[in-house]
Amino acid sequence: MIDATGMPQSAVLLGGSSEIGLEVLEALASRRLERVVLAGRDPAGLASAGERLERAGVRQVHLVSCDVGRSEDIERLLEETEAALGPVDLLVVATGLLGTADLDRLTPALVQEMFAANASGPAAVTAGFARRMASQGYGRIVVLSSVAGLRVRRANFVYGAGKAALDGFALGLGDALAGTGVAVTIVRPGFVRTRMTAGMKPAPLSSEAADVARAVLGALEADRRVVYVPPALGPAFLLLRLLPRPVFRRLPG
Ligand SMILES: NC(=O)c1ccc[n+]([C@@H]2O[C@H](COP(=O)([O-])OP(=O)(O)OC[C@H]3O[C@@H](n4cnc5c(N)ncnc54)[C@H](OP(=O)(O)O)[C@@H]3O)[C@@H](O)[C@H]2O)c1
Repeated sequence: MIDATGMPQSAVLLGGSSEIGLEVLEALASRRLERVVLAGRDPAGLASAGERLERAGVRQVHLVSCDVGRSEDIERLLEETEAALGPVDLLVVATGLLGTADLDRLTPALVQEMFAANASGPAAVTAGFARRMASQGYGRIVVLSSVAGLRVRRANFVYGAGKAALDGFALGLGDALAGTGVAVTIVRPGFVRTRMTAGMKPAPLSSEAADVARAVLGALEADRRVVYVPPALGPAFLLLRLLPRPVFRRLPG
């Protein structure tokens, strides 16, 4: 159950080896998180993620193999989670693939893989858990979106387009769930220093995975629906969205 301060006892992390996702779950373990499903496609990454959470105090960790590009994996994730956890208090959606925006490397297969990781896969999983949470009468969904989806830039236009789709899906889903007891929180970080951005020059207002985790816990406690990390990115992107396209196109990376 979710307590009066918004803290869950059971959670599913989609993208079970995600640095940001694990930081969130570790922070929740210091509150009252006890049972977790880690869903992902890399068995070794999931195993070490599970050990990290056990060290942080999570009593039960279940690992589920799931590539979000495969419908049969998504169905199995829903079934195995039901068997392992019963009711799910919290779903954290953290799959993502930065991929490339280099036209020479952007094959049709890679575009499909990127949309599966950033948009269609997480949306499909979220829909499955949202239905289940609505029938149990409560639940919380945290979707890791990105400011990259607020106005798609040429530097990462495939990733950004996927995030725009997922962000819109999550906003609409939150509205569709009104009155069911289930709430959706959309988290829009800027540049976060994780393995996803390793080797890249940090953008202005960059942050750490721990900053995102703090923002997520704050949003759960305060029942906030949209969060920017850091908060200054909210007004900054409000302005960036108004820039004429010829000017926006020339902004650095
Ligand atoms: N880092 C940033 O600057 C930043 C900024 C804004 C938003 N975000 C978002 O925050 C979330 C977490 O990112 P992160 O920084 O923690 O990066 P990360 O450690 O690379 O996490 C991404 C996760 O997505 C998983 N994944 C990718 N494709 C998948 C697929 N087809 N099926 C299942 N899992 C798949 C990866 O698993 P594998 O290990 O198997 O690849 C990994 O666990 C992502 O949604 C990302 O877009 C990140």
